[in-house]
Amino acid sequence: MKLLVIGFGNMGSAMAKALLQKEDPLFEEITAVDHSEQKAALAQELGVTIFKSLKSAFIDKDTVVLLAVKPQDIQSVAEELKDRLDGTFLVSIAAGVSIESLQKGTNHPAIVRVMPNTPALIGSGASGWFAANDVTNDQKAIVQAMLESFGIAVEVSKEDHIDVVTALSGSGPAYMFYFIEAMIEGATELGLSPEEAQRLAIQTMVGGGQLAQTALDLEELKTLRKRVTSKGGTTERALEILEKGEFKTLTKKAVKAAYERALELGS
Ligand SMILES: NC(=O)c1ccc[n+]([C@@H]2O[C@H](COP(=O)([O-])OP(=O)(O)OC[C@H]3O[C@@H](n4cnc5c(N)ncnc54)[C@H](OP(=O)(O)O)[C@@H]3O)[C@@H](O)[C@H]2O)c1
Repeated sequence: MKLLVIGFGNMGSAMAKALLQKEDPLFEEITAVDHSEQKAALAQELGVTIFKSLKSAFIDKDTVVLLAVKPQDIQSVAEELKDRLDGTFLVSIAAGVSIESLQKGTNHPAIVRVMPNTPALIGSGASGWFAANDVTNDQKAIVQAMLESFGIAVEVSKEDHIDVVTALSGSGPAYMFYFIEAMIEGATELGLSPEEAQRLAIQTMVGGGQLAQTALDLEELKTLRKRVTSKGGTTERALEILEKGEFKTLTKKAVKAAYERALELGS
């Protein structure tokens, strides 16, 4: 099985790199299409054969096609793929581009829509995906394995849920960075140097995140929080402030706003 990556930018090249680093390779060959010279140099470094135009790229029934160009370039690429996908399937990571529009554009029914996130660039991604009816179970297994080469992957039960994934894990890294920034500013105002505060705040997020991964459900996650929160202690005082400021309501509102924006962009 081979992979053809169309658009060798941030996400396309990161996905190819992660797949090339796998001990037991999923694809026997990875090729790419991108028109920029800079991307050609990166592809050469990684040992990926790159074509300047999709016309020169070879696609057969054993070629999984990964569409990783910006949403505004999708329709022109789809047009170039028209009637060239017989026997295979297309995986798109373009934000807000529906399966139906890709099916119309390519004249092909087997399409998978994926929403990855930027930690995928360092192998710690969280991707949600949804497959059209015409995608076979074997093809779905390939998608799951491909996404797991750079993090975790969750198949959602409806295409609409991809917009929820966008609002949760797609935009989520920015919510985390914002919270880290606020913690650092709080600690520096109390006297820590920015370097000290940054190291401690980031490791707290990493360690807290890893501990959170041990929780099997929301109840266990709440228990982890309660264990740090002794009666009358410092954490309890801090959480009271977050509750008074309606932190949870505000976070839910932020996720909902991102979701609504994803709907607007997709319509
Ligand atoms: N970055 C993220 O955090 C993220 C997260 C989730 C999903 N996504 C999705 O991932 C996709 C790619 O994002 P990205 O950040 O990787 O974009 P990017 O870095 O701009 O990469 C896209 C690449 O595709 C090239 N390209 C454009 N038109 C092409 C064509 N017709 N044929 C071949 N190559 C073409 C671009 O070249 P030029 O620059 O020369 O046009 C660029 O090198 C987007 O659809 C985005 O919605 C991104």
